[in-house]
Amino acid sequence: MKFRAIMGALCAAGLMCGVATAQAAESVEVLHWWTSGGESKAVGVLKDDMTKQGYTWKDFAVAGGAGAAAMTALKTQVISGNAPSAAQIKGPLIQEWASQGVLVNIDSVAGDWKKNLPPEIDKIMHAEGHYVAAPFSVHRVNWLYINKAALDKAGGKVPTSWPEFFAVADKMKAAGIMPIAMGGQPWQDLTLWEDVVLSQGADFYKKALVDLDQKTLTSDKMVQVFDTVRKIQGYFDSGRTGRDWNLATAMVINGKAGMQFMGDWAKGEFANASKKAGSDYICAAVPGTEKSYTFNVDSFVFFQQKGQKAATPGQLALAKTIMSPEFQEQFSLYKGSIPVRLGVSMDKFDDCAKKSYADEQTAIKSGGYVPSLAHGMAQPDAAAGAISDVVTKFMNSSQDSKSAVAALAKAAKTK
Ligand code: GAL
Repeated sequence: MKFRAIMGALCAAGLMCGVATAQAAESVEVLHWWTSGGESKAVGVLKDDMTKQGYTWKDFAVAGGAGAAAMTALKTQVISGNAPSAAQIKGPLIQEWASQGVLVNIDSVAGDWKKNLPPEIDKIMHAEGHYVAAPFSVHRVNWLYINKAALDKAGGKVPTSWPEFFAVADKMKAAGIMPIAMGGQPWQDLTLWEDVVLSQGADFYKKALVDLDQKTLTSDKMVQVFDTVRKIQGYFDSGRTGRDWNLATAMVINGKAGMQFMGDWAKGEFANASKKAGSDYICAAVPGTEKSYTFNVDSFVFFQQKGQKAATPGQLALAKTIMSPEFQEQFSLYKGSIPVRLGVSMDKFDDCAKKSYADEQTAIKSGGYVPSLAHGMAQPDAAAGAISDVVTKFMNSSQDSKSAVAALAKAAKTK
């Protein structure tokens, strides 16, 4: 007898009806923003795993890098009483959602998570002493991607400081190569800006963007940050308005442009285009940030479903699968990240991922491991949004650095 027929017979006999329908037919609705080539391959692994376990995957993908559009869609869904089973939420936003009383706890599948996660990250997955989020992987944000052939053609070397960077950019320009591929959304502006903040040192970054220390925010060094960003902008092409990050990555992949500042989800695009780290492209830490690491950990939270306070079997299966070693490995191979779970073998990973892993360990020990502001890890939504507005305004106008610094200090007071 087939499984369905057996369940049907048991159900007719008054046994196991609830269990059968809950487990075999539960549909899990998953809200995320992973829609680029590499991203969809990565989330596809989770979809397949869930389907194999008998769940129906209802994809709620909202395109838009870094998730601004996805977050707006999520609010609408929750307010209208149609919260998805799971949503891609990270950093302090996890606690913000938990404080609304709309999440379920997933403690029952998280028994061994504490010993398998770096403490900084384990903490983020909690709200009021319970696990409410499941982490996927660690993305490093402070990367510079370089097309190897373009670098060779220009006769440049991998830059480790801003003067070296500008020298390479000039050489590319002289060789007829567009030096920097840049996209045109506020989060991409903020990603570059935080890279430059980090190049002033991890302590400076922490005081400025984690502690929001007014003295640091208004310092001469911060004026220099804006000056450097302005200088970098001189190497952008004119067509960046509205451009998605993955289209900018494609320009580096196909040699139209020489370099891109982007987190290592860009590596998922290189991998998807069958490009090899080291020979086709180079991943280097952003100039001046070799010893530091801006981390960005993606996670899912799980929403109470109609009439239910506890996690459903499907939600628990999702959380358990996300943290399983096999999934952690395959997801990151496609995504460009490294597994967040400790002890997963790095054997199958490329040199960039191995470097990310080694640099992460060094940065954790040296105090250079810092949360990314641009990717929702460092500040609650309101402050991050206000800072983002200042940076985007600066990068899309001719505002001078000193007045941008004054605006930044004011924005950092946003609660
Ligand atoms: C980040 C997210 C990454 C990647 C990127 C571009 O915020 O953490 O997983 O998807 O946005 O969409």
